[in-house]
Amino acid sequence: MNKRSWAEPYKIKMVEHLRVTTKADREKAAAEAGYNTFLLKSDDVYIDLLTDSGTSAMSDRQWAGMMIGDEAYAGSQNFYHLEQTIRECYGYKHVIPTHQGRGAEHILSKLCIKDGDTVPGNMYFTTTRLHQELVGGQFADVIIDQAHDPDSELPFKGNVDLNKLARLIEQVGPQRIPYLALHATVNMAGGQPISMANARDVSAMCRKFGIKVFMDATRAVENCYFIKKREAGYADRSLQEILRELCAYTDGCTMSGKKDCLVNIGGFLALNDDDLADAARNMVVVYEGLHTYGGLAGRDMEAMAVGIRESLQFDHMRARIGQVEYLGELLRKGDVPIVRPIGGHGVFLNAARFLPHIPCEQFPAQTLAAALYVDSGVRAMERGAVSAGRDPKTGKNHFPELELVRLTIPRRVYTQAHMDVTAESVIELHGNRDKIVGLRITYEPKHLRFFQARFEPVEGSKVLRD
Ligand code: F0G
Repeated sequence: MNKRSWAEPYKIKMVEHLRVTTKADREKAAAEAGYNTFLLKSDDVYIDLLTDSGTSAMSDRQWAGMMIGDEAYAGSQNFYHLEQTIRECYGYKHVIPTHQGRGAEHILSKLCIKDGDTVPGNMYFTTTRLHQELVGGQFADVIIDQAHDPDSELPFKGNVDLNKLARLIEQVGPQRIPYLALHATVNMAGGQPISMANARDVSAMCRKFGIKVFMDATRAVENCYFIKKREAGYADRSLQEILRELCAYTDGCTMSGKKDCLVNIGGFLALNDDDLADAARNMVVVYEGLHTYGGLAGRDMEAMAVGIRESLQFDHMRARIGQVEYLGELLRKGDVPIVRPIGGHGVFLNAARFLPHIPCEQFPAQTLAAALYVDSGVRAMERGAVSAGRDPKTGKNHFPELELVRLTIPRRVYTQAHMDVTAESVIELHGNRDKIVGLRITYEPKHLRFFQARFEPVEGSKVLRD
């Protein structure tokens, strides 16, 4: 036998008990939550695949780091450790901690975007686009067309389309484009990576026109794993080396440490430009906290510093992405329509294809996430029309081509058996799809509606008929 499997490069030291509920319990909980998985109580959830954000298990070394938190208001040792780690691992010069990713997005958007500016990016992300719009910017999608096609098998479906970018620069003029937001990986496309070649080309084009490139580095190490696996010339390079090269094509990054960095809270803004960093340090004190803690406790910064090093270990990333792939392969073999290739942080169900009888106005992805919860207590997240929200000018619903449900895998939390149970539920639900009933909105908040909107079935009282 030649096959040698990988296994998780850790063993479990502490467990958290899960509560098993009945279908009747879950029907009640789903109705009380307005069929929005964000409004469920976590105690009512069996396997929580809502998000990989802040849900990872920390290592014993990170917990040890929590015990050496230096909780001084100013100049905490943990800040200097974090700063040094980010400088070494990502290669940026200035580090401004923030409470999480959107804190960094807020500061960057406010500092760089003027009313009427256009900000290109390889697909939108919810919080990123909102912060751009709140300061008068307009997001322009310059991702390759194939990213919107769930069946395209391109290895780097997150890439920027250089022709689209060139056309945009010509149309609006480089002086109205303060920066390009380069997402690595692309969350809304299904966790799809960008290639190093694309990052290099994007950087060259932007530099030619004096446009800055800021990376959304939230899952950049996952992106580097895909580069190592899929891009010629990188197989023998370490994740660390690949990350440094990727970051070198950009002028800084916004970071949600709650993903790659293996912490439950934290983020940062990293910048190379001295003046911009100075302005950001000035602004962080207004919105987050002093520039040496940015809304974080010293212990949180220490855990993030340790987590960054762990994220760059090949065995960690192989097991992390390997687990996502394991779930995806089970679903693929079970004939469930999923986004291909399988992404870095989760498996994305193609809800439009899964529920062809539910029109887009009845939110197939929202509906599928609610039905999956009722079926088995697995909590997933809608990533389709509800997440896309409305056009700020016309007030009309955005109906993106991708109407997806994300089964997001927290890092180091669930076992292969949890993946089996999840796949069985999804496959069975797919067989029973004609029992699933569409939803309509009963309450809609103004911003980021997917977090708090409420729904009801368009007919009857159940999203999953008996
Ligand atoms: N950028 C990306 C690509 C993200 O996925 C997220 C968060 C953020 C920025 C914002 O970071 O949450 O720390 O403020 N994504 C979470 C998710 C919410 O579930 O995908 P944050």
